[in-house]
Amino acid sequence: MLMALSSFSSLFKLSAFTLCLSILVESSSGQLSTSFYSTTCPNFRSVITRAVNAAVSKEARMGASLLRLHFHDCFVNLGGPSWNVLFGRRDSTKANLNAANSNLPSPDSSLSALISTFSNKGFTVNEMVALSGAHTIGQVRCSVFRKRLYNDNNINSSFATSLRAHCPSSGGDDNLSPLDASPASFDNRYFNNLINQRGLLHSDQELFNGGSTDAQVRIYASNRATFSRDFANAMVKMGKISPLIGSNGQVRTNCRRTN
Ligand code: HEM
Ligand SMILES: *[C@@H]1O[C@H](CO)[C@@H](O)[C@H](O)[C@H]1NC(C)=O
Repeated sequence: MLMALSSFSSLFKLSAFTLCLSILVESSSGQLSTSFYSTTCPNFRSVITRAVNAAVSKEARMGASLLRLHFHDCFVNLGGPSWNVLFGRRDSTKANLNAANSNLPSPDSSLSALISTFSNKGFTVNEMVALSGAHTIGQVRCSVFRKRLYNDNNINSSFATSLRAHCPSSGGDDNLSPLDASPASFDNRYFNNLINQRGLLHSDQELFNGGSTDAQVRIYASNRATFSRDFANAMVKMGKISPLIGSNGQVRTNCRRTN
């Protein structure tokens, strides 16, 4: 969370926030907790809520970026499910692009590769399916899903045709397409898309391709509340993955680089 705090500070340059941050740099508690900032920065929830709401209303994709940031680093309450975030994660003293990408699943992953990548971090198959529902928001570059449009055959043909118009077989690498038809709304549409063979990433469609996760996709597609509950629980669990706490790590003044 401190990671996110420092990124918010550089993103939003909120003066109240910067003030809090300078106090936060001094604080270090030995464990993650929902009340980590209760004495050092008592207003931080309202400060963050205001900053995030302002940022998301200005640019809807900001919510997607923050959610992805949590996945990639480990945090946020968007206009969807909510959960009690455990705060106190500190930043790494190292910055290494290869290491940052190494444990992440590729968009070309098979179902078994997805299952093992998440299992390596302690997640069950159902938790992996729930977390993948994050792809109900956000956008992806053409270069990431091109192969799916031109090589996969488990893709809805009208869906493929419309995507190909914005993502030719060569060129247009950075053209963006939404991960689902309502990319700014956190709902369970992602799972309905999978059932209609409208997953954007190859890895998305692997969750509904005649394998062991089809049944869970159907459950989430028909029950938004179940999805929201499972997603929130899995996000809390994700926030606890090997955190740097206490005096380990550091609090970056600029989240993009080590101090
Ligand atoms: C299941 C395995 C996953 C794979 C293979 C995967 C892969 C990707 C890729 C390749 C992109 C697009 C990057 C780009 O265009 O530059 C993306 C976007 C995104 N991912 Fe994932 N992801 C996975 C799981 C997750 C999880 C667990 C979360 C969060 C809990 C998440 C949240 C997001 C979000 C919100 C975006 C959109 C970001 C934006 O609009 O800027 N993903 N993902
Ligand atoms: C293709 O998408 C349409 C619209 O969502 C859907 O009605 C149709 O069933 C899909 N086709 C397949 C094969 O899933």
